[in-house]
Amino acid sequence: MPDTPAIEVRGVTRLFESRKGFLFREHTRTEALRGVDLAVRSGSIYGLLGPNGAGKTTLVKILSTLLLPTSGSARVLGHDVVEDSEWLRPRIGLVLGGERGLYNRVSARDNLRYFADLYGIPGGEREARIAAVLERVDLLAAADRRVEEFSRGMKQKLHIARGILHRPEVLFLDEPTIGLDPKSARETRKLVRSLVSDGVTILLTTHYMFEAEELCPEIAVLSKGRIVAHDTVAGLRQLVGGDRTLEAEAYGFDDREVDAVRRLPGVSKVVSEEYGPRTRLTLRLRSLQTSPDDVAAALPGHSELSVRERRTSLEDVYLDLVEEEAH
Ligand SMILES: Nc1ncnc2c1ncn2[C@@H]1O[C@H](COP(=O)(O)OP(=O)(O)OP(=O)(O)O)[C@@H](O)[C@H]1O
Ligand SMILES: [Mg+2]
Repeated sequence: MPDTPAIEVRGVTRLFESRKGFLFREHTRTEALRGVDLAVRSGSIYGLLGPNGAGKTTLVKILSTLLLPTSGSARVLGHDVVEDSEWLRPRIGLVLGGERGLYNRVSARDNLRYFADLYGIPGGEREARIAAVLERVDLLAAADRRVEEFSRGMKQKLHIARGILHRPEVLFLDEPTIGLDPKSARETRKLVRSLVSDGVTILLTTHYMFEAEELCPEIAVLSKGRIVAHDTVAGLRQLVGGDRTLEAEAYGFDDREVDAVRRLPGVSKVVSEEYGPRTRLTLRLRSLQTSPDDVAAALPGHSELSVRERRTSLEDVYLDLVEEEAH
């Protein structure tokens, strides 16, 4: 069924409860996910953004059968992540990153041999497949070195190699380029794109807005366990008030000036931020009515004023959404 989403999340919640201390027992309760709905089309790549602690990794772990939801349901490839976890495991891949999940005392190649056996990759294919994924993540030259000698970025690449070794139909990438140098990060993004063109469905979390914008036609923003927006990048821009952003900078503005700027036609939002001795006003514009010259005219008497126009970035959108949520 081509119309069935590859990933479908309905009303998923996850509660973490723990007790700390011995004499003075302290009970902590965290609602990491508070009713998440999400659908990812088969063969597409979907971006999941959100501040630290928003619940991204928790959701990824639930979808990859590592963690149980407290309530709600989630299906991957049409199969329930709780009921059909055995069926799903060989068909999904997960890249969580970090230090865990690799064997440090043995080589990268031996790590992958272990996982190949675990995934049931036929013996005859094993070595060629391992060499191919190591090549794909540019680790072939270091294949026979012990992982404990690896840099953080090399370990991250090995995590990615491990995640794609068994050719999963759905891949969960939790901050895949964290710790990678710019060139390796770029190559990883290229690899992600090539996986999508091979037909793999990908759910990707990242804190790099340009990465999400570059890779993901659709994006959801998670904040405090809830999806606060999901749309295309263009749709999200409209949601926060338009494509155009103007920035005016000078040595301080008074309230009257900020008000004057806010009243200019088409201005949907004005944010004021201090940058050392300078203040920056960021204006979101719904229309073409107001130009940089109009803004300059509304702020007379600042000899050091600079006004520039740029396209609203995904970072602007993200900060607006997450900020609104905080209020
Ligand atoms: N095993 C756990 N026990 C208790 N609380 C947990 C556990 N795992 C996660 N949490 C809590 O759940 C919330 C969501 O955490 P999660 O790791 O999913 O966030 P995240 O969006 O991935 O953040 P980051 O961007 O920092 O990776 C946080 O408040 C976190 O402290
Ligand atoms: Mg995380």
